[in-house]
Amino acid sequence: MSAVKNTPPNLEKLAEVSFLYPDRNLKLVPGDPVPPFGYNDQLGVKEGPRPYAGKPVLISFLPLHNDEKSFSFLRTLRAYEGRFAEFGTKILIVYSGKEKIYKDLCKEIKSDAISLLFDPKDKAREDFFKTNNQYASHTVVSFVLDVNNRILSYFTDSILEDQIWKSLCDVIRYCPQELSQQIKSQAPVLLIPRVLDQNTCQQVINLWKYGGHGESGSMRSDENGKLVGYIDYGRKRREDHFMKRGPLKTQLSNIIKKRVVPEVKKAFCFDITRIEDYKIACYRGDDKGFFRQHRDNQNPGTAHRRFAMTINLNAEEYEGGHLKFAEYGKHHLYKPGTGDAVIFGCSVLHEAMPVTSGDRFCLLAFFYDEAAKDVRKEYLRKMGAGHETKIVGKALDKLKSDESGSADNI
Ligand SMILES: [Fe+2]
Repeated sequence: MSAVKNTPPNLEKLAEVSFLYPDRNLKLVPGDPVPPFGYNDQLGVKEGPRPYAGKPVLISFLPLHNDEKSFSFLRTLRAYEGRFAEFGTKILIVYSGKEKIYKDLCKEIKSDAISLLFDPKDKAREDFFKTNNQYASHTVVSFVLDVNNRILSYFTDSILEDQIWKSLCDVIRYCPQELSQQIKSQAPVLLIPRVLDQNTCQQVINLWKYGGHGESGSMRSDENGKLVGYIDYGRKRREDHFMKRGPLKTQLSNIIKKRVVPEVKKAFCFDITRIEDYKIACYRGDDKGFFRQHRDNQNPGTAHRRFAMTINLNAEEYEGGHLKFAEYGKHHLYKPGTGDAVIFGCSVLHEAMPVTSGDRFCLLAFFYDEAAKDVRKEYLRKMGAGHETKIVGKALDKLKSDESGSADNI
């Protein structure tokens, strides 16, 4: 066994390794929550990831037909278990081979921080891997979970020390030890990290850039209660692309179903069953793009909306552009990372602050449920789906003096 590496990890370099794109051998990829499972460990205690929510978790699947590698993995891991323990990591090793070998493997475990689970029917693997995957027989595969039982990264390195080292680096990077802090006020928002990977964020931005976009309007009701769109640069300065059906929209919906819907259910006891069309929005730095404080469900035509979602797509590329929820802290500025989602109730007052440099891209959506669907259906029955868009205030001034044809976007 080689000595423990003492050099500090190059976290920036390793982060590139962490955000791998879907692997044809895997059912779950970074960002996905892991399903619960439980099998007896070396002490006869049923163990699995769910009870360790709140801590990082390392799950390693030992190969079915390479016992030498399994023994080697456990011996190598022993040299690092103290480092994992520093960050409160629970280590779950899953073995599905012969019982006699399992008992011999158990003798290698010296710490309560490591549980060696025996899964003789190889059921746990079914949730993580596609059938007949090339990893099952000869390779150790390790998954690093964040404190919310979601996959941060996975590693398949045949050099086992590298696999363990990279797993440790991701624990350090994404689940660092934090000092206790008293929280005295906060907005009732749900922040979900890493809903989209960087590649998907870029695909969404590209759709805005090359798929068309136009001035974003606001909504208000006319004297009959029908929604009227209007563009007013004193209230909002943004350009939107409305997503149509296609592979990217399907991909996004599948991700939202797996990574956002269960979190909203857990946090707010609300069953999302419906979604308005996604909008890809850009607040341009040159325009000092912004959206003044407002609520998202104040008209008969928007009354069905229950939760709003914003996913930042390029947090590193702009300045300003914070979200603010003034009712709960007028100096609290929210800037989630790239791919992170912010979810909040549509009744909550919120504001997109001006972008001061760069262009801020985000993906927007509104969620509702079956009861709210009837509210929307009733509005559409009375008023119909379409609405006119009027131009007011500074936007009208700009368009009158601008003969370049930008009115086509309205
Ligand atoms: Fe809004």
